[in-house]
Amino acid sequence: MDEENIKDEENSKELDYFIDIKPKKSIEFYEAVLEGLSSPQKAISPKFFYDERGSKIFDKICDTPEYYLTRTEVALLNDIQEELYSLIEPGSVVVEYGCGSSIKIKALLSALPEPSHYIAIDISKSHLILTAKEIASNYHNISVAAICADFMEPIDWPEKASFESLKRLAFFPGSTIGNLKPGEASQFLRYARHLVGDEGTFLIGVDMKKDAEVFNRAYNDSEGHTADFNLNLLHRMKNELGADINISQFSHNAFYNEKLGRVEMHLISDIKQVIKINSLEFLFEKGESIHTECSYKYSVKEFSELAKKSGFSVLKNWSDKKNFFSIYLMKAI
Ligand code: AVJ
Repeated sequence: MDEENIKDEENSKELDYFIDIKPKKSIEFYEAVLEGLSSPQKAISPKFFYDERGSKIFDKICDTPEYYLTRTEVALLNDIQEELYSLIEPGSVVVEYGCGSSIKIKALLSALPEPSHYIAIDISKSHLILTAKEIASNYHNISVAAICADFMEPIDWPEKASFESLKRLAFFPGSTIGNLKPGEASQFLRYARHLVGDEGTFLIGVDMKKDAEVFNRAYNDSEGHTADFNLNLLHRMKNELGADINISQFSHNAFYNEKLGRVEMHLISDIKQVIKINSLEFLFEKGESIHTECSYKYSVKEFSELAKKSGFSVLKNWSDKKNFFSIYLMKAI
């Protein structure tokens, strides 16, 4: 963490403090698009899905009958509340990576024995402050803080939250780790291991390997929200970068790549066409794709191995009856 880049902000009464590490990644949509459309397999990172419109579409995806991930994880979290109460140290400092859904963090905070602090980390500053404030107003006995940062960069534990006696628990729900390639996921876990320290623990939600049809349905919902979500990248390019694109000539495509153990999302060009951004032209052959997302799936054995080589050992893991989704409690090794 570069000291010069840390700025405490007066910002809000409700938050204990706010640290802005000014993530580089948040200003680079333009660069990512230019670079991504210039490579042989055109690609744009899934982290760009989540502008305001994209986040709203994602919420709609979570409500579709096909997208089982969110509701399975929330049900599982609620089921294990009593166990978490006895497994997690009283007074823990809870750090959440990418504070997406307040339902999940509330299920966790309400389960734990008197958590003392909650620190939210997210790349989107406005979203971060909103979620953190909501938690602050719901849990008066918990001190709430926020760090605006990209969790793919190393983050140092904030000095203001350094209480010798309090254990740290990181929380990363939603199978968001699936967006990272296994090597990147391992790097992320190492950073997390550094953040939580030698006595730290980590609670993480991970989507499991299963029949291809379940994935193919979940990522091709009949209401078309996943398609809208994917196509939102083209809307962003049009609105934010002034790109000249015929959005209706691109189609959503998502499938389970069994060999690589991941769902892939692509935007397929229906015709031979050009996307123009300023004076730059990107040619698409008919059927050519922009790869927009990888969503890796892990068996319990695979994820436990990944954890182990990244500095954590699995203390306990839970899955739903169908073995669709799993939650792991890990401790630093
Ligand atoms: C939030 C990254 C876990 O991979 O399932 C939903 C995003 N993409 N539908 C996932 C997503 C398409 C989601 N994650």
